[in-house]
Amino acid sequence: MIRPMRRQDLPEILRIEKQIFTAPWNERAYREELENNPFAQLLVYEQDGRICGSCDLWILYEQAQIATLGVRPECQRQGIGQCLLSEMLRRAEAAGCETCSLEVRPSNAPALALYEKNGFIKAAVRKAYYSDNHEDAWLMIRPLGGKQDDSTAGTGNQL
Ligand SMILES: CC(C)(COP(=O)(O)OP(=O)(O)OC[C@H]1O[C@@H](n2cnc3c(N)ncnc32)[C@H](O)[C@@H]1OP(=O)(O)O)[C@@H](O)C(=O)NCCC(=O)NCCS
Repeated sequence: MIRPMRRQDLPEILRIEKQIFTAPWNERAYREELENNPFAQLLVYEQDGRICGSCDLWILYEQAQIATLGVRPECQRQGIGQCLLSEMLRRAEAAGCETCSLEVRPSNAPALALYEKNGFIKAAVRKAYYSDNHEDAWLMIRPLGGKQDDSTAGTGNQL
């Protein structure tokens, strides 16, 4: 079941963060998202009372951005990441967003495969984006809804 994240979820979320990210968000970052970011929609995937994954979607007027997505190691490869991503795309589309974007490490093959499978394309490189190892990020983007004018799509350089 996918439901909104609550403050009481944070200890568990933070434990999972440390297992799956080299630069995990801390409690302050999550509380800021939960309590002070009016654009953020934080969701968890819960199974038998246990949090298996979570994500954070920003709805920024006509643009949506995936701020984070993660699945507990022992729950990976069971369709949960796909489920959370589909729910974020559904919400972004329902909110009338025209695009959804995200940043991902070029070294993160599982995430790249997931995003490419879901129609995201590499749009640009953000140089030295990650503070822990100064790795570049791919900016990936996916059109949503029916608002985009096809005649103007794809005129930029394909990286
Ligand atoms: C990326 C991540 C969220 C995927 O979650 P998941 O629940 O394991 O993914 P799913 O089981 O829903 O898989 C969906 C698709 O993702 C891709 N994928 C997921 N894990 C993969 C892996 N280890 N290797 C290659 N492709 C993978 C596949 O395309 C897969 O489709 P398939 O099963 O038909 O091959 C998960 O690996 C994770 O939490 N990683 C650590 C945190 C992270 O990197 N988050 C993304 C930051 S941008």
